Amino acid sequence: MSVDLAAALPAGEIRRAREEDLERILEIEQLAFGQQWDYYQFKASLDDIFLVYVDQEIVGFIVACCCSVSQRGLILRLAVHPEQRGKGIGTALLQAALKELQKKELTDVELDVEVVKRGARKLYEKVGFRVVQVYGLSEDEDDSFFIMRRPLCLEENIV
Ligand SMILES: CC(C)(COP(=O)(O)OP(=O)(O)OC[C@H]1O[C@@H](n2cnc3c(N)ncnc32)[C@H](O)[C@@H]1OP(=O)(O)O)[C@@H](O)C(=O)NCCC(=O)NCCS
Repeated sequence: MSVDLAAALPAGEIRRAREEDLERILEIEQLAFGQQWDYYQFKASLDDIFLVYVDQEIVGFIVACCCSVSQRGLILRLAVHPEQRGKGIGTALLQAALKELQKKELTDVELDVEVVKRGARKLYEKVGFRVVQVYGLSEDEDDSFFIMRRPLCLEENIV
């Protein structure tokens, strides 16, 4: 899949990941999360909806898949290289994943985000996700997280 986002992000392109991208993806994973996923987890996800933003080099990725049991899309991973943040790349990746999930027979999309990741939560809210559940003792707990959900029929937040 190739999604042309030239209007929003000049010289930007989003496409599915290939095996040769994994080294760079792991580099960004390390910078973003301290390597929670390993090579084999990413390799196993290549067949899922797995999008990479490319501008000469890969600067971010998203892992989005479908859960056929719950008929729900799942955003499993989203990361942008630290030097490329704040330029709309995270938003573009999310929008591309949502567009792709809309082609399937799914009702909504779900993700979890740590309570301490306020920037990520704002990004998800910007594209229409809302908190539906909180796990953890309080919102101040480092290990607390939100479950956020978004109906797939919402058109207005997908450019
Ligand atoms: C979260 C992440 C993917 C955002 O990527 P990005 O390309 O910088 O995001 P965007 O530029 O598209 O930002 C979109 C909106 O998100 C919000 N946002 C993103 N980062 C923010 C931050 N650090 N603080 C406050 N708001 C932030 C803003 O509302 C922003 O919109 P605005 O620029 O109009 O204010 C990136 O910071 C990242 O990789 N973080 C580490 C990994 C991570 O936390 N992933 C999410 C796990 S659930």
